[in-house]
Amino acid sequence: MPHIPAADRYANPALYRACGRSGLKLPRLSLGFWHYFGDDADPVAGRALILKAFDLGITHFDLANAYGPPRGAAETNFGRVLHGDLAAHRDELIISTKAGYKGWEGPYGDWGSRKNMLASLDQSLRRLGVEYVDIYYSHRPDPDTPLEETMGALAHAVRSGKALYVGLSNYSPEQTTRAAALLRELGAPCLIHQPRYSMYERGVEKGLLEVLAREGIGAIVFSPLAQGVLTNRYVNGIPADARAARDPRFLKPEHITPAKLAQVRQLDALAKARGQSLAQMALAWVLRQPVVTSALIGASQPAQLEENLGALQGAALTAAELAEIDRILL
Ligand SMILES: NC(=O)c1ccc[n+]([C@@H]2O[C@H](COP(=O)([O-])OP(=O)(O)OC[C@H]3O[C@@H](n4cnc5c(N)ncnc54)[C@H](OP(=O)(O)O)[C@@H]3O)[C@@H](O)[C@H]2O)c1
Repeated sequence: MPHIPAADRYANPALYRACGRSGLKLPRLSLGFWHYFGDDADPVAGRALILKAFDLGITHFDLANAYGPPRGAAETNFGRVLHGDLAAHRDELIISTKAGYKGWEGPYGDWGSRKNMLASLDQSLRRLGVEYVDIYYSHRPDPDTPLEETMGALAHAVRSGKALYVGLSNYSPEQTTRAAALLRELGAPCLIHQPRYSMYERGVEKGLLEVLAREGIGAIVFSPLAQGVLTNRYVNGIPADARAARDPRFLKPEHITPAKLAQVRQLDALAKARGQSLAQMALAWVLRQPVVTSALIGASQPAQLEENLGALQGAALTAAELAEIDRILL
């Protein structure tokens, strides 16, 4: 039985913003599939999360060939929900995927060769069960492959109708400038860049955001909640159902130090004084940058999506509040 979506899911036009100098609007919050959509996860919970996001107007779902475990499983599992519940709504969705991290064994299953980029895209399309993805990314720069080759493969994906737009992830400001020029020449302008950005990871402020603004490329920033640390998740220890306990491959419990938690508690107090949760303030903080089109979040529970969308309702951060955040993080 297909899902009957909420009739009011597009009631808030302010939820969408044009991505860079393109005609494509993305939701200010997008949902990523890095965690909790592998074969080790509860498919009922995963389906509930996808459908809740769609009902809330979150139209953009971000995948990658490598998301699982095992690799590729997130695409297969998302594809199942897409076809079971949302088949009538494909044109309301922006589905992205990526290649560049290890997808399969051997010399052709990784990095940025034309061979890997195009074979991986075909695999992703099969797993997702779609004819095209909306955005296809180079997931990371490859030091051993000419940039011309990787960008040529992205442009070919567009020309062949297997991707509508292309993007870059984890490229430096210099690499982005060169890649953007190549993609423009090839007739497949770079739509979007996906870097890490949160109060704890501010590397993009050292040049990348300026390059993106100059090039007319939108930013969709990943891990804006520092994988959950910039929420109230860990203030009283590590709950059994939190990422650091459930899936500590990337968020290791030892990284949630007492010093970090002391900062988190101060940030939480500041957020409360603004009438927000810490998650909402952390999202408002990344979205304050004009070049940031969307904050790319993860979630383990539908209620987190609702809470996080509340970030769009709060007052803009004042200069004094921004300075206070900087002071806490020093
Ligand atoms: N391009 C790349 O190289 C790259 C790398 C990493 C990620 N990404 C993309 O970015 C996406 C998001 O990354 P991320 O999951 O690290 O993002 P994140 O938003 O920083 O962290 C998500 C986690 O924060 C917690 N959370 C979210 N909302 C909450 C709330 N209101 N209250 C309490 N806890 C809350 C949840 O943790 P619990 O699970 O503990 O509930 C959730 O799993 C990925 O899925 C992927 O699509 C891309």
